[in-house]
Amino acid sequence: MAVTPSTFRIRLAALTLLVAGTAVAHEKATGVVAARMKAMEDTAAQAKALDRALKAASLNAADVRARAESIHANAHDLLAMFPPGSDQGHTYAGPEIWTQRDVFERLTRAYDVATEKLVEVARTKALPELREQFGVVRRQCLDCHEKFRAPGAERRH
Ligand code: HEC
Repeated sequence: MAVTPSTFRIRLAALTLLVAGTAVAHEKATGVVAARMKAMEDTAAQAKALDRALKAASLNAADVRARAESIHANAHDLLAMFPPGSDQGHTYAGPEIWTQRDVFERLTRAYDVATEKLVEVARTKALPELREQFGVVRRQCLDCHEKFRAPGAERRH
């Protein structure tokens, strides 16, 4: 497809809007840092909704499955969102992510596997197992934040 100057301008404008929107949502964060904050916030929103659904008397299986899948998709991409050098600027990522990379990688991989299992369990619709696996995943959030998220991050949320 030929790119005329006017379509090019439209694309640029759309891109500018996208970047500006991200900057507003995450204050001064940019690039991969803003992307991982957005992924974490999305994960937190899905986890909160899942928690509510699992506590409710009736649950929408398709909705639960979609939320589990979205948590897993974010988990699967997590390691790539902490490339070397992304410890600079507006971020709450702890320096240990890079100085203890093997530990961080192990946690990230375990989280990837646990969220994948969450998706599997969500497909079987067995509520006790789903609650249990969700508990496993949530402990991993806290565990990783304790080790790899800088102090002070909690106060923002
Ligand atoms: C393997 C490590 C790891 C796991 C697992 C993890 N997080 Fe995070 N999370 C981080 C790090 C590191 C940051 C800080 C990122 C930054 O500021 O650049 C963060 C940031 C966040 C934030 C703040 C985002 C923002 O806008 O600043 C929220 C909310 C969050 N995580 C929720 C969760 C939830 C909910 C889970 C589990 C379902 C989870 N996280 C699992 C490492 C992890």
